[in-house]
Amino acid sequence: MAESVRSRFRKLLPWALGLSAGGIALVLVIVYSGIFNIAASAGHPAWLEWLLTLGKERSVIVNSKSVDVPELNLTELMPLGAAHFQGGCATCHKTPGQSINPVYDQMLPSPPNLKVHAPMWTREQLFWMVRHGIQFTGMPAWSGQDRDDEVWALVAFLEALPLMEAEDYLKYASGNSKDNIEAKNYPASEFAGKGRPKINFSACNRCHDTDDAQPITPYVPRLGGQDKAYLKRALHEYHNDLRQSGFMEPIAGELDDEHINSLADYYASLTVPVSKLVQRPSSPKLEQGRQLAQYGDRLLKIPACLSCHGANKRSDYPRLAGQSEQYIRQQLQVLRRGRRAKTPHGAIMTTIAKRLTEQQAEAAAAFFAMQILTDYANPKAAEGLR
Ligand code: HEC
Ligand code: HEC
Ligand code: HEC
Repeated sequence: MAESVRSRFRKLLPWALGLSAGGIALVLVIVYSGIFNIAASAGHPAWLEWLLTLGKERSVIVNSKSVDVPELNLTELMPLGAAHFQGGCATCHKTPGQSINPVYDQMLPSPPNLKVHAPMWTREQLFWMVRHGIQFTGMPAWSGQDRDDEVWALVAFLEALPLMEAEDYLKYASGNSKDNIEAKNYPASEFAGKGRPKINFSACNRCHDTDDAQPITPYVPRLGGQDKAYLKRALHEYHNDLRQSGFMEPIAGELDDEHINSLADYYASLTVPVSKLVQRPSSPKLEQGRQLAQYGDRLLKIPACLSCHGANKRSDYPRLAGQSEQYIRQQLQVLRRGRRAKTPHGAIMTTIAKRLTEQQAEAAAAFFAMQILTDYANPKAAEGLR
């Protein structure tokens, strides 16, 4: 029995090989002859359009099955997604109230209006497409290579987009500063007629704090109150691809040394918001955070956070006091995954972050978020807490 199958197979083999070789030769002849028109203006023939669409849909559906949705506050993340969309996606995709750039509209395929298209996909599928991009279409992958965590801000935005009016979009994409109020109050009708909105797309205050406003979401770090040396170092690291972030790398990539110097000067000079009184830790979690900040954990070989992050810290180390709980927690996770380990400074903190338990990381984040630049390294200032 097995013998007869084998002999039949042997007989058919030359035919199969011949046919495949013929097929390949035919394809090569067609390709070489140049009859196949690759002009974007010619559009795809219907059969190719069908094949490409099917291939894309199946690939997205199958590959996105392994995506796990983390526990994140999507409402809080959404404004960061809107601000990045304006800077990083609106070149190609339409935004509410703004018509699509005619140059990019002529791409094949042309970038779809996501207000209409986003609801066709699940949360996992949107994540997968924004994270990995789509081959043969011009849709790019996320620029912070290993920063999957950042992509969720865009997913949050894409989910909110279908119901978003032009004015709301402007509000989220232009930041909290009073300087942007003029742009925010631009009525939707006028706005649509005038093409691009009055936002300075590369302006830092679309996301970060100013002297009159908080960062747009707790997931964006406060820059006011940091030392110039730290700010400068961080911007150079994003610029040189030493610190990964799909939000900051494209922006810092366009800054030269002079820009970086003056921006660091500006943010270091911002007056820090008036401090609320340091509160006595009122929960076991805050108390655990305080212990860690002041004394560390000898058993786990964790030094006191304040020995490096307190008022007497080196000027090229960051301050943590007054940074939001969400940002501190997120950066500790980024550090624990080794994503900031390329620089000597990052390597120091990576070692410490990896020793922290999940609970300790949360406690430290909660504690520092309640402190506003108070001198904890100074025993007298800390006295009130004992
Ligand atoms: C250089 C132009 C370009 C940029 C920049 C761009 N996209 Fe796209 N995007 C495309 C094109 C073209 C497609 C169409 C793919 C297709 O039809 O298969 C697409 C498709 C998509 C889709 C899938 C929609 C669908 O139904 O097929 C999503 C979601 C998306 N883009 C989100 C984004 C986000 C978010 C950003 C910014 C982080 C972004 N894109 C930046 C060109 C771009
Ligand atoms: C689209 C929003 C957005 C814009 C616009 C933006 N940033 Fe950022 N910035 C972020 C986010 C989010 C982070 C945290 C990134 C990370 O995880 O490393 C960050 C981090 C930083 C840091 C590091 C802070 C720290 O504590 O380590 C500096 C410095 C910085 N940004 C400066 C700037 C400057 C200067 C500009 C303008 C030229 C700017 N940013 C524009 C969102 C933005
Ligand atoms: C030995 C010194 C040292 C100690 C102790 C230390 N850190 Fe750090 N930490 C650093 C350095 C240096 C950086 C800057 C890393 C970089 O630039 O990539 C940093 C960065 C951070 C950041 C990122 C801040 C930002 O703005 O992006 C967080 C969060 C942090 N540390 C939390 C902690 C906590 C919590 C503790 C205590 C459990 C702690 N650190 C103890 C040196 C230290």
